[in-house]
Amino acid sequence: MLVLGIESSCDETGIALYDSAAGLLSHALHSQVAMHAEYGGVVPELASRDHIRRVVPLLRDALARAGRTLADVDAVAYTRGPGLAGALLVGCAFAEALALALDKPTMPVHHLEGHLLSPLLSADPPEFPFIALLVSGGHTQLMRVTGVGEYELLGETLDDAAGEAFDKSAKLLGLPYPGGALLSKLAESGDPGRYELPRPMLHSGDLNFSFSGLKTAVLTLVREQGETLTEQFRADAARAFQEAIVEVLVKKSMKAMKQTGLRRLVVAGGVGANRQLRSTLDAEAKRRRLRVHYPELEFCTDNGAMIALAGALRLAAGSPLKPAGAFAVQPRWPLEFAQRSC
Ligand code: KG4
Ligand code: ZN
Repeated sequence: MLVLGIESSCDETGIALYDSAAGLLSHALHSQVAMHAEYGGVVPELASRDHIRRVVPLLRDALARAGRTLADVDAVAYTRGPGLAGALLVGCAFAEALALALDKPTMPVHHLEGHLLSPLLSADPPEFPFIALLVSGGHTQLMRVTGVGEYELLGETLDDAAGEAFDKSAKLLGLPYPGGALLSKLAESGDPGRYELPRPMLHSGDLNFSFSGLKTAVLTLVREQGETLTEQFRADAARAFQEAIVEVLVKKSMKAMKQTGLRRLVVAGGVGANRQLRSTLDAEAKRRRLRVHYPELEFCTDNGAMIALAGALRLAAGSPLKPAGAFAVQPRWPLEFAQRSC
């Protein structure tokens, strides 16, 4: 089965071709980051319009790279939600119209399912069951993953997502949107002992998170500095923020491992690219003899490959294909409600 995957939930247009026997054949991606940076965040209307512009050239590119034509496609998988309504509608309408024209079925996919299955695209994929730490711009969750379509929410953020906290703190430190990766780079030259920020909900006894207070703590630090922020202050504050958020993410992940008795942890979503998070998790896992799996760096942030993969895996797990034509997006869609019968 050759599955075409289409991602358009936020500010990346992603197209990929995944063959259930041969694996990922090709993928093409366009990031709108530069366009939104001017406004300090994603502008939904601009995002939708850009998806419209990019989707056809990206599809042509992905087909050419895979050496396939549209006639070879057996099913079209696309992100149905969660995400920006207008952005989702572009990918969804395009996928359904294309499938209708090709007389092929569709497979609507949950965006977070794509993220948490994305480590299966790597050369050394994790086996089920595992715990997934999903850390993206919009979500922070710990899930028990028993198989494709079998997800149990163990804990989640009560307010800001981890990526959102990175981006908001980065903005306070004068970095452009999306600041997560830039803050992390800045933190490398920061002194870890200079400032101590709170570790929100570290001892809450459950697996939930809260990051909005951490961002406020960065704001307080910034305000105490007065008019100008020195390079050293910005680096030290970035380091203090990163130390705090990484400690909470790592400790809660380890708590989830202990609580469930599982031995494999999968880290997915954009914040999974963070180097300090990776090295701290690796050290903790080594100490406890656990395995940690990460998606390839290019599949940490939004992409079409994870959607094509999720579609193909759902097919293999027996999820029904949908006749093309009728469609609806789900901008808000908890993953637990997208189990086997998606
Ligand atoms: O998964 P993703 O592409 O989008 C959502 O589905 O939300 O994640 C994007 C988020 C952004 O908040 C971005 O700042 C953050 O991931 N991010 C990072 C790093 N690279 C991306 N945060 C911390 N460190 C990084 N290296
Ligand atoms: Zn995402």
